[in-house]
Amino acid sequence: MTSPATRKRIIVAITGATGSILAVKTLLALRRLNVETHLIISKWAAETLKHETDYLPAQLKGLADFSHSVHDMAAPIASGSFRCDGMIIVPCSMKTLAAVSMGFGDDLIARTADVMLKERRRLVLVARETPLSEIHLRNMLELTRAGAVIFPPVPAWYIKPATLDDLLDQSVGRLLDLFDLDTQDFSRWNGWEKK
Ligand SMILES: Cc1cc2nc3c(=O)[nH]c(=O)nc-3n(C[C@H](O)[C@H](O)[C@H](O)COP(=O)(O)O)c2cc1C
Repeated sequence: MTSPATRKRIIVAITGATGSILAVKTLLALRRLNVETHLIISKWAAETLKHETDYLPAQLKGLADFSHSVHDMAAPIASGSFRCDGMIIVPCSMKTLAAVSMGFGDDLIARTADVMLKERRRLVLVARETPLSEIHLRNMLELTRAGAVIFPPVPAWYIKPATLDDLLDQSVGRLLDLFDLDTQDFSRWNGWEKK
């Protein structure tokens, strides 16, 4: 268990792309790893969550240490003076991705992501759409050049998943690797298995 002084602090934003179970799994893993979490849920994320999972937005907020309204531009996390280890947008819609790539901070998610970039903090966008248009790809390139990490939730089939949970745990595990956090609940590639 890390002490409160060294406890990591990560902002988790959920937007209205499909794959809200990834957000649930990410919050559960961060809780298990004793990371302080600050949660923002967009309007369409709340709708998608209700449609795709058994979780209600209120239950998701219960998994986080702090929760902020997407409209609250005065939240502490909207300022560069808020110290943290970075931000994950999971899943990230093409609309929010576009807003962040343009520096268009008209809600707390886009504003906080903008702050991460200007403060040179870790920003990971779990970008979900398929197929991708030239506009999506251009926005992703802009963000990568600005220092963000684009992390599409693409399955790693080499783990030979038996269940959906196996796939989700691998994606969340690799996502949290980007913050030097080890969930220890997925198999890493170890070379070909000896027969
Ligand atoms: C069921 C459902 C699934 C959606 N999936 C995606 C998706 O995978 N990727 C995406 O970019 N938008 C998707 N959308 C559209 C977004 O919800 C929409 O663009 C919304 O304005 C995003 O706003 P937000 O980024 O503030 O949450 C989906 C919408 C619904 C209702």
